[in-house]
Amino acid sequence: MKVHVYEKAFLSIGGGMLLVFLGALAFATLGAGIHLPDRAGSIDPQAVRTTPPFDDPGVREIAPGKYEVVMVAQAWSFDPAEVRIPAGSEVTFRITSPDVIHGIHVEHTTINVMVVPGQISEMRYTFREPREHLIICHEYCGIGHHYMYGKVIVE
Ligand code: CUA
Repeated sequence: MKVHVYEKAFLSIGGGMLLVFLGALAFATLGAGIHLPDRAGSIDPQAVRTTPPFDDPGVREIAPGKYEVVMVAQAWSFDPAEVRIPAGSEVTFRITSPDVIHGIHVEHTTINVMVVPGQISEMRYTFREPREHLIICHEYCGIGHHYMYGKVIVE
């Protein structure tokens, strides 16, 4: 008889934890706006430099207050290495790699994604405060890995 009491208690602990984790997931998604990056398409890694939009990497204003950053992550730099945008801009990053797997993390933002040859990664972020953000490669990509960085300057 006693056994059933404990069983019920353990079952409710399990159920309670499930609710806590679902709550955390809902909070991260809806409250904090954390999403998995989109896989925005495929690309031939050999032809990155000749395939639009990656034949012309850079920062473009696509609508008032909205920018697109087309970026190539390669051994061992980001192109462009410097992104300059006004505060309050919503920025969509589209990024790919022509060589090996890299990563991109923009410090103090939710931008954190792997950059895989053959795939285009896309993520969006609104830069509200004027400040500098370091861009780093967080996937070991060879001897120059620790020199692979850039900057987002929010003015
Ligand atoms: Cu690119 Cu590490």
